[in-house]
Amino acid sequence: MIEKKSQVFAQQIITWYQHSGRKHLPWQNNNPYFVWLSEIMLQQTQVIKVVEYFNRFIARFPTLKDLATAKQQDVLALWSGLGYYNRARNLHKAAGLCLQNHACKLPQNLEDLIALPGIGRSTAGAILSLAFDQSVSIMDGNVKRVFSRHFMVDGDPTKSATQKALWTLADAHVSKSNPRHYNQALMDIGATLCTRHKPDCERCPVQDSCAAYANNVVADYPQAKKAVKKQTVELYPRLRIDHGQVYLCQRPAGGIWPELWFLPLEEKRTNYRDDVAFTVEHILTHRRLILNVIVDQTASQYEKHEPGCWVDIDKLSNYPHPVALRKILQIYENSQLH
Ligand code: ADE
Repeated sequence: MIEKKSQVFAQQIITWYQHSGRKHLPWQNNNPYFVWLSEIMLQQTQVIKVVEYFNRFIARFPTLKDLATAKQQDVLALWSGLGYYNRARNLHKAAGLCLQNHACKLPQNLEDLIALPGIGRSTAGAILSLAFDQSVSIMDGNVKRVFSRHFMVDGDPTKSATQKALWTLADAHVSKSNPRHYNQALMDIGATLCTRHKPDCERCPVQDSCAAYANNVVADYPQAKKAVKKQTVELYPRLRIDHGQVYLCQRPAGGIWPELWFLPLEEKRTNYRDDVAFTVEHILTHRRLILNVIVDQTASQYEKHEPGCWVDIDKLSNYPHPVALRKILQIYENSQLH
């Protein structure tokens, strides 16, 4: 009985895929390297933005071998603007490991995939199903919402007992006949119909068996996780601009924005000066940054303390940098126009 229900669920999802799923994304050609790259980019970024970055990336690194033999700086530079740079560092490291240990190919089993840096269980499932059509389940943020609602899974979704319940359901429902389209459709349904706010239940292919819909409690699932308060950090970046160039330093390996290029940064104010020109708020995963920007009008002692270099602003994309740098430059530029 249970078996039968799960097959109906999978079939309804696959039928929906045939008329409404996404079928023409540039990585949907069964090239495992393309699928892997796209899944890493899609972890924290929306499809529409990923398409542009993906196309630029594969133009520069068309094969896994090209990526494995590239310099890390060149990989990070192409990632500039996508954020969460550890994704790029891990991708590059994992490519090196594939070259060394797997004959320059992505492994085709869950265990070896998960052993690679940056590939968790859900990403491994996405790669195995989308690239190799293997019947392996996935559970990313969007799919979690679909399953939490459909089966009214109670509990904080970040807690391991809740996650275990979700994975068990995912394993029981994954299609055996067409896992590639089934998993892609689940992600598409989560992203476009079963959205966090205003879900479009009328167009959902599995509305008839959705427990939350039947009980009119769709908005209550997934249940709220305990809010973690972000720590606020005040920083004092120093902006020096001269003849279309900006002075940048490479951040140290630990701390905020490791190894990215940014303005010289004081993390603690040693002496108070009334020289903050403007303030920018920037939200990271665990921290809220208040960037009190100091604009240096005159040549300062700074270069002695923080060795960096002058960079042409229109060549900034050669220097992997956080989005906050663009924000600061934009605000500064606007202030100069007025
Ligand atoms: N999010 C993560 N992987 C995805 C995919 N393959 N399609 C759409 N959204 C995704």
